[in-house]
Amino acid sequence: MRKSISKFGGVLAVPAVLAAIVAAGPSSARAPYTEEELQQQMDSLVESVSLGYDLWHGSKPEMTTNGLACGNCHPDTAASNPQTFPKYMPMFGKVVPFRDMVNWCIETPQLGQALDVNSPEMTAMEAYAFKLHRGLPIEPGLASRQTSSIPVESGKGFPHVPTGLGVDK
Ligand code: HEC
Repeated sequence: MRKSISKFGGVLAVPAVLAAIVAAGPSSARAPYTEEELQQQMDSLVESVSLGYDLWHGSKPEMTTNGLACGNCHPDTAASNPQTFPKYMPMFGKVVPFRDMVNWCIETPQLGQALDVNSPEMTAMEAYAFKLHRGLPIEPGLASRQTSSIPVESGKGFPHVPTGLGVDK
């Protein structure tokens, strides 16, 4: 009796698993991807990085009340060191993720309204900063040890053509 139940279950289980995979559709994890799928994935990344670039250069007024944008002090994400996070930050007195420093800089030097840490906008801020810092070594310590700052030249948020974005369509 026990044996026949397990056999019956096994016969049912295979089509059920296959049906579940088919039902999961393009979001199910598998490889290799088609050229078209890879292009869609890259387009999504470029879209997020581009939104991050815009936000970094002052596109969301709520993020500042004094006219400063990230780009004024961190042009091309200089000295934001995303590759070093999570790390200990003295102003928090604990180890924090990159997004907490994004919000600290919105609220402190920019006197603006913090982003929802789970928002697509915060993900975009990270996508932009991490994109420009891939491949850099992870080191603890001062910001100056990571990426040199670039002098601010002009304009609100120092908008200019992004250098090293490397994800042009
Ligand atoms: C007025 C200048 C100024 C502006 C504008 C500014 N920051 Fe900063 N940022 C700083 C300074 C100064 C520090 C170093 C703080 C410290 O360690 O005491 C810093 C540190 C950081 C760090 C941590 C870097 C590290 O390795 O410790 C991140 C991340 C960061 N800023 C992101 C941003 C983002 C994102 C924005 C825009 C929302 C922004 N900053 C706007 C001045 C600025």
